[in-house]
Amino acid sequence: MERIDAVKHVLRNINHGQFFNSAGGSAWAPSNVALCKYWGKRDVELNLPVTSSLSISLGHKGAFTKIKQEGEIDNYIVNDVHIDLASKFAIRLRNFLDLFRPHGAHYLVKVDTNVPIAAGFASSACGFAALVQALNQLYDWRLNKKDLSVLARLGSGSACRSLYEGFVEWQKGDSYDGMDSYGVRLEYIWLELRVGALVVSTQEKPISSTAAMQHTVNTSPLYSFWSEQAAQDLALIKLALARKDFLMLGQIAENNAQAMHALMQSSQPPIVYALPETIAAIQKIQELRSAGIPIFFTQDAGPNLQLLFLAEHELMVLRAFPELDVVLPFAMSGAEQVILVSENNVEVGTSEKLAAHIQGKLHRAFSVFILQEREGKTEVLLQQRSSTKYHSANLWSNTCCGHPRPGENIITAAKRRLCEEMGFSASLQEIGQFHYITQISGTDLIENEIDHVLIGFSDRDELQINLDEVQNCCWVDISTLQADLQQNPQKYSVWLPQVLDLLLQHLQLI
Ligand code: DP6
Repeated sequence: MERIDAVKHVLRNINHGQFFNSAGGSAWAPSNVALCKYWGKRDVELNLPVTSSLSISLGHKGAFTKIKQEGEIDNYIVNDVHIDLASKFAIRLRNFLDLFRPHGAHYLVKVDTNVPIAAGFASSACGFAALVQALNQLYDWRLNKKDLSVLARLGSGSACRSLYEGFVEWQKGDSYDGMDSYGVRLEYIWLELRVGALVVSTQEKPISSTAAMQHTVNTSPLYSFWSEQAAQDLALIKLALARKDFLMLGQIAENNAQAMHALMQSSQPPIVYALPETIAAIQKIQELRSAGIPIFFTQDAGPNLQLLFLAEHELMVLRAFPELDVVLPFAMSGAEQVILVSENNVEVGTSEKLAAHIQGKLHRAFSVFILQEREGKTEVLLQQRSSTKYHSANLWSNTCCGHPRPGENIITAAKRRLCEEMGFSASLQEIGQFHYITQISGTDLIENEIDHVLIGFSDRDELQINLDEVQNCCWVDISTLQADLQQNPQKYSVWLPQVLDLLLQHLQLI
């Protein structure tokens, strides 16, 4: 069967080509990394796999694609760069679009991605998954995810798993037309799971996964063992997920990736994606494991690694791999993400919170001061940070602090944090901002923040503080606080003096 016939089958009840949305279509899809790999096709035309596979989607790493039907020729723009229509990338995209193109139509496709392209980071997976969903909007097909997954597979096999967040199984199916070969979301949620991209090289890989896969199937004497190995690994990974057994999950995923690379190395001529830096990183992972840190890796068709570990070991893993790009696969809300900014406070991206603090990346933060007037004096509400905070534990500080989440404005974020930490709400007003950078003593953490300072008023004495965050609080008048800060600076957070200075300027007390 040809791809165009598979498309016609999926669109059989749709009057395709009669209508298009002039505003275009757009969609986001996450990238994914396979814990049990897809390696080998039983049908090259339809990307039908020999084995089922299982992946984890990579949270905020992925592609946002917009498509419009317009112009006299196709136009493809990736991260604001016009793509040469004779390039491999453009030809692959055009061939895929031809499957849906009404006679004489041309497309403008804009892709924004935070995944390195063609470097073994599943850029084609998120690219095709986002594209089919954008086409679904453009042509108002109203297809369900199963059908969209079938279409995405025609672009790139692993794309059929990028239709979903979380763990996804690509069920290989048996039928010749592939209508039973698509991604299915698994219901396991594993909040503590971390995936860290270790970028060894962003160079385009010497041989594409499509070609490498076929070469392996055709020439590796070991390929006959793969089907059984992959089926066994898949069953064990699903068991590990059901039991929430990280050691089992990590070990099987690592073995599975190693087995796939062993297949490639046994093909004629051999394919080796690893660079010396890849091997050095693998040895470091093994050393960490011998030292008792449960960390595993998986490797796709490229030299880069994806590290698997749990939140409780993130600090240790980041010490060993300071440049790691950490992803929280289940933080769909972006709860643990901070907004990265430039020196002039323009948003430039996002980062996992702890990673931003270890790598000293400039990000956006806020500090809130709640005030009251009592007996002619201005008092501020201070909090004493909980003994379990990841930095500045037990120190006294302003009423509350935090980081806005991606897409959240400062005032909303500050009100949210005030409720979460101090148990009440107040209207807040921004009075200024400052940039501060400091190494937090006794830790590997660097605070490099543009801190927005906000004030609000309240006269509450009975406070329902959140003991996970705050162990104590008190009202103190500003001059007493100033004097004590001079005498006992070690009692207070490092940022408090600067926040207080801004407050004093605002109140025209200095
Ligand atoms: C090593 O999905 O890129 O990442 O279907 O030919 O486009 P095509 O191949 P592709 O192969 C992915 C291979 C892999 C393993 C995996 O993601 O399962």
